[in-house]
Amino acid sequence: CGIVGYIGHRDAYPVIINGLKRLEYRGYDSAGIALYDGTQIQLAKTKGKVVDLQERASKEITKKGTLGIGHTRWATHGVPNDVNSHPHYSNSGDLVIIHNGIIENYASVKKELINRGYTFKSDTDTEVLVNLIEEIKKEEGVKLGKAVQLALNEVVGAYAIAVFDKNKPDEIVVAKLGSPLAIGVGDNEFFVASDASPFIEFTNNAIYLEDEEMAIIRRGRDVKVRKIGNDKEVKPFIQELQLNIEQIEKGGYDHFMLKEIYEQPSVIKDTYRGRLLADKGIIKLGGLEEYIPKFVNADRIIIVACGTSWHAGLVAEYIFEDLARIPVEVEYASEFRYRNPIITEKDVVIAISQSGETADTLAAIKLAKQKGAFVYGICNVVGSTISRETHSGTYTHAGPEIGVASTKAFTTQITVLTMIALKLAKVKGTISKTDYMMYLRELEMIPAHVEAALKSNDDIEEIAKVFKDATNFLYLGRGYNFPVALEGALKLKEISYIHAEGYPAAEMKHGPIALIDEHMPVVVIAINSDHYGKVVSNIEEIKARKGKIIAVVTEGDTAVKELADYCMEVPKTPETLTPLVTTIPLQLLSYHIAVMLNKNVDQPRNLAKSVTVE
Ligand code: G6P
Repeated sequence: CGIVGYIGHRDAYPVIINGLKRLEYRGYDSAGIALYDGTQIQLAKTKGKVVDLQERASKEITKKGTLGIGHTRWATHGVPNDVNSHPHYSNSGDLVIIHNGIIENYASVKKELINRGYTFKSDTDTEVLVNLIEEIKKEEGVKLGKAVQLALNEVVGAYAIAVFDKNKPDEIVVAKLGSPLAIGVGDNEFFVASDASPFIEFTNNAIYLEDEEMAIIRRGRDVKVRKIGNDKEVKPFIQELQLNIEQIEKGGYDHFMLKEIYEQPSVIKDTYRGRLLADKGIIKLGGLEEYIPKFVNADRIIIVACGTSWHAGLVAEYIFEDLARIPVEVEYASEFRYRNPIITEKDVVIAISQSGETADTLAAIKLAKQKGAFVYGICNVVGSTISRETHSGTYTHAGPEIGVASTKAFTTQITVLTMIALKLAKVKGTISKTDYMMYLRELEMIPAHVEAALKSNDDIEEIAKVFKDATNFLYLGRGYNFPVALEGALKLKEISYIHAEGYPAAEMKHGPIALIDEHMPVVVIAINSDHYGKVVSNIEEIKARKGKIIAVVTEGDTAVKELADYCMEVPKTPETLTPLVTTIPLQLLSYHIAVMLNKNVDQPRNLAKSVTVE
């Protein structure tokens, strides 16, 4: 989530709305704003994006106000709706709060407050917090700042909050633990935000609160910082920011794509968190449970998708057929929809889409529904059209993906698809208990393996230097890693504009081998697997024709290392799960080549993140 606040002399509305837009990368499934002009609080909030909020606010917010707070939300669980959106009022209507984070013990606090007569409109932990502050403030002589402090000492969790009180029109109280919070210090005005991007055009001076610090921001006066735990005053350190807006949003990375590549260990974890309990042998996907019989009794599964999501579908074909023994067909949505395809009520269609808005995928879904198939969606963007148009589905929880070339969406899609396949295999009895338990444990180790794969970044950058001027690349892989070869080639094409083709390694001899000479780099995924010996032979064939070999190998490999010109190592994992790790070095390779060629990595020419045209 993202938070923004303003207290000063300007109209807070545009400051907050523009600030929320800059923070939309932090989430955009609901948004809200509260403005205060000293006499009346005006509050507007809605499910949807900041533009939806603007539309609503244009009707509901009629007056200007020089104090305001705003919020943009990325729900990781629960349905985003208007009521759950922030800001939240306290029961008296005097206090208004925005919150990024989670209050873990909110249920017990809520119970206590209900006993004392409080009522709640939303399901949020945030509404509990604001009422706890209100309850504490009722005590004689307790001011807003003190009440916030005492309340925070009672809660367990993580937060960045901003609160104001109707009776204190010149004050905003903020606090931080675990979630970021910056205070912009301007000329007789102050800003609050999750990062500096909302206020960078107004001031370069910022105070970054440390964990367990809170601040009382007083209009036209000062910022008083103190420790939440012990009342100790802290002298605020005002930092001069050297950054521009874009750099700040990228969290220190040069590009969104690189940031997103590096986020993979944590977002893969987010994707299976609460859904996979390896010790107990449990996989539980909310959207799937009820529909398991549909999958189990299906004649076949048809996967429809475009681009990178289609590649995730191809990986899933191997996983589903191997583990769950259900026939799978993977279709380009655009081909499927225009082909008069044979679909019946006995088919299950899985639509995969990061954005959830891709026009061709959406049209394929509609067609499949018309023909009576059950349609399951795997989307990243919460509340997106595809997530609404499908009968049920699972979100990937990768967080906003801004770089046009998809990275973390791909690995989280595969994570979801693997969980579905394992669940179905277990129900169908096509997997042994031992294997099932082994896969669950191994899946939990993937984030650490991805982390380890990322450590080769510097070596990969060196490899990129050697090959950046090549005009063609060939990518080869077998089995589970054939789709990874396709995805590796697509990444390179998308951002470096170098022609690249992915092939199943064995198909090389039926054509592409004619292209191989000393100028042709060949990226071979040559990890330990059932096909290892065969891939080694393919590498020999390339070498015999003087092709340059860049191999993705398993840690500790010796045979391929002797043959290949360059190697990129990944940790060992069962073959079924290897696409989740072998993809990583290929993402980094294309990234570094594109950077060296001075290409616009995040917004490659001619491409769009969300293709809503057919
Ligand atoms: C566009 C994007 C690709 C993406 C494809 C499918 O072409 O540039 O990165 O893979 O659309 O998008 P979706 O949102 O449906 O996964």
